Amino acid sequence: MERTLSLIKPDAVRKNAIGAIISMLEAGGLKVVGAKLVRLSRAQAEGFYAVHRERPFFSSLCEFMSSGPIVAMVLEGEGAIAKNREIMGVTDSKKAAPGTIRARFGTSIEQNAVHGSDAPETARTEIAYFFAPYELFGLGW
Ligand code: CMP
Repeated sequence: MERTLSLIKPDAVRKNAIGAIISMLEAGGLKVVGAKLVRLSRAQAEGFYAVHRERPFFSSLCEFMSSGPIVAMVLEGEGAIAKNREIMGVTDSKKAAPGTIRARFGTSIEQNAVHGSDAPETARTEIAYFFAPYELFGLGW
């Protein structure tokens, strides 16, 4: 069993696509074991994306990510990290395969509807950025 952080970004929340996106994740076999609607401050967005701080798109990305509410979720399942990335599609919405979340709801490389952790270590840090242990519910609840 593996866990990964999933974010529904402000563009997708504005499109009223929360339910459709969660349905696609659940249909792919992932279980929502933590969820909240939050609006990040600019500083919180900068903290979350700190690894990208030297990139030319960093400022615009943080502006976008703090522009409205997002849904933060923890997804659980076998190979959840890879599975989530498969259901999301590649980063650039325009290159994402048909049927993926980003092809359906993203519009560009930045406004790409969702975020998903890329490795076990990042998943741990990213989950801890949004959730306390008592906000997560695994098997047996
Ligand atoms: P995400 O998977 O959340 O990880 C980093 C984010 O930065 C990415 O999705 C995009 O929203 C954004 N991003 C990545 N590459 C670029 C780029 N070349 N130009 C603009 N935004 C980008």
